[in-house]
Amino acid sequence: AGRHFIDLWHLDHVELREILDMAHAMKKARAGWPKGRVDDGAPLEGHTLAMIFEKSSTRTRFSFDMAMRQLGGSSITATSSDMQLGRGETIDDTARVLSRYVDAVMIRANDHSDVEAFAEFSSVPVINGLTDRSHPCQIMADLQTLEENGLDLRGARIAWVGDGNNVCASFIHAAAKFGFSLAVGTPARFAPDDEDLDIARELQGKIDLFETAEEAVAGADVVIADTFVSMGDKDAERRLEILEPYAVTEDLMELANKGAHFLHCLPAHRGEEVDPEVIDGPQSLVFDEAENRLHAQKAVLRWCLEK
Ligand code: CP
Ligand code: NVA
Repeated sequence: AGRHFIDLWHLDHVELREILDMAHAMKKARAGWPKGRVDDGAPLEGHTLAMIFEKSSTRTRFSFDMAMRQLGGSSITATSSDMQLGRGETIDDTARVLSRYVDAVMIRANDHSDVEAFAEFSSVPVINGLTDRSHPCQIMADLQTLEENGLDLRGARIAWVGDGNNVCASFIHAAAKFGFSLAVGTPARFAPDDEDLDIARELQGKIDLFETAEEAVAGADVVIADTFVSMGDKDAERRLEILEPYAVTEDLMELANKGAHFLHCLPAHRGEEVDPEVIDGPQSLVFDEAENRLHAQKAVLRWCLEK
């Protein structure tokens, strides 16, 4: 029963639109309520989400936990090193066992194929809470944030600058589904993976690749940055050096459309991938974006569980 949420390109545009609309509606419906109060109708009453973390997390961990509480359900969190997973128990067995206890599983994993394997052996929905390859929950929150700030995604121009990483990959998957074009500005060595570009091509997504931040940002409605050193990257020093010209500065923002929004999934490194004047300035939506992880994930959880 239920449906997995592993990558955005697995869902059709109608389903993704439904999730985003549900996120907007649920956020609106509980405006002004105490954060711990349960939503009307307690849509996931009696349901429990297990959360497994192989890597650190602030937003994903707390927003999913609060999402389950607000939906009337509960959650159980463990790091993989708390579990027998950390001592070599297989993903397959872990998935089969947890499926007997809980109604859904959210996993943050080092290796994307582990989430796919978990989904294969799980009889309950599995949600990708970030892997080395993608971060679909983040993009749902980001798109919710842009829409609530008046951006029509259809025909919008979104610029990604810096490292063509996991978060960038999920934007690449989302472009065709939501009808925006994506301009990606990265050094050649940190360009997005061909596999993700092939997925976008097959979906007829409009992705333009550039080797400078300036070209990517020109004429953009939104500028997005992320850390230059993701969890699991071993070459921090080299990355910081090569990616330095891709920092989002006030001068770079000037090249985007007037009033362009700035997004960053956080955690941020001021003075590395973004200047404080930008991330803490009037164009930045980063804290609405962080809040919307809660609302968007509530919609994802309902989509997974209410089928
Ligand atoms: N943006 C995001 O996923 O944050 P966490 O790593 O804190 O969960
Ligand atoms: N690209 C970053 C995102 C963190 C939420 C990482 O994978 O570490």
